[in-house]
Amino acid sequence: MNKKTLITYGTFDLLHTGHLNLLEKLKAMCDTLIVGVSTDEFNALKGKKCIVPYADRARLVKALSVVDYVIPETHWEQKRVDIIKYQASMFAIGNDWAGKFDDLQDIVQVLYLPRTEGISTTEIKDIISKSKDEKILSIRNTLQHALSLLDAVDVK
Ligand code: CTP
Repeated sequence: MNKKTLITYGTFDLLHTGHLNLLEKLKAMCDTLIVGVSTDEFNALKGKKCIVPYADRARLVKALSVVDYVIPETHWEQKRVDIIKYQASMFAIGNDWAGKFDDLQDIVQVLYLPRTEGISTTEIKDIISKSKDEKILSIRNTLQHALSLLDAVDVK
């Protein structure tokens, strides 16, 4: 049987069902699934700040039964080197990257898969930060109310 290796890359911060859906779809298309997880230093270069550090993001992705190998992604140019090194026949990534890696088509089949709607790390971070802001606002309102009650007390 012709063994197929597929390689993909991503940050996978705050691992969510969008990530899992993609990785499950990818594993269904190959025998060996290799995931390049962006290191914290590489994310900084991309202007992304992760909540979960690289070592834990890599452990979480590796723990998924559909993932065979995790490798660190440290720079933009490494994809071509990895594809040759691991003899991958497919490179796949979500369609938020559509067209961005077409230059790899001379050595590998390049696929862009539809993203899962309605979930992303950015949205999760926004929700957490909004709920934190709401909590702060509620504490501030409670304190202001308590202060106004104190002001109303006639201290002699
Ligand atoms: N992905 C997906 N569906 C989603 C979110 C992500 O298919 N709803 C895919 C991306 O297209 C990428 C991989 O999962 O191929 C890893 O995504 P990542 O780089 O971690 O991006 P996001 O989860 O979208 O995070 P962010 O909002 O920070 O960009």
